[in-house]
Amino acid sequence: MIELTQSQLTQSQLTQSQLTRSQSTDTDAEPLLEIVMRVNGVMHTAMAPARRLLSDFLRHELRLTGTHVGCEHGVCGACTVLVDGAPMRSCLMFAVTAQDYEITTVEGLAPVEGTGVSTMSPVQQAFIESHGLQCGFCTPGFLTTITAYLQENPEPTEADAREAISGNLCRCTGYQNIVKAVLRAAEITQERGAGA
Ligand code: FES
Ligand code: FES
Repeated sequence: MIELTQSQLTQSQLTQSQLTRSQSTDTDAEPLLEIVMRVNGVMHTAMAPARRLLSDFLRHELRLTGTHVGCEHGVCGACTVLVDGAPMRSCLMFAVTAQDYEITTVEGLAPVEGTGVSTMSPVQQAFIESHGLQCGFCTPGFLTTITAYLQENPEPTEADAREAISGNLCRCTGYQNIVKAVLRAAEITQERGAGA
């Protein structure tokens, strides 16, 4: 027979208690709302609880898993999407409140040409050329953030580039090549002209 110490018993009870609490707050038990959202130019309809985060809605209901979730409380920037063109932490926004806006995720950054063939956006191309990523976990957030930044600031200095990415965390690159990518993306945008 296995005898549990008092400490193990307490731990066991705690675990059971936590499990019960977890089950009682399972979002599957909550009423579901119909959420209609335009993402990357396409209208989507899906059912989700009122408190479903936009990041989770994109990933789980719409299967747009390019948006990554790191800290889940607004610090790392990995979950950044564009809301009417402005960068927004999708882990800080409810899906229901995003319904009135045009949402762009990393999957929607690449322009689709008349042939139906997607090409890299200037920022995506710059990240490739400048080796601006390693594991890639943070990359979707950087791509969306920098895309929005360059639309407002098409000719950034290196100091501007550092400021632009200061709200996004990367654990791999040391940021040097991401700064280069911001500057290169500005060049590519100019090379491609206004249609880039
Ligand atoms: S997951 Fe949203 S800011 Fe980190
Ligand atoms: S490339 Fe790995 S976290 Fe940024």
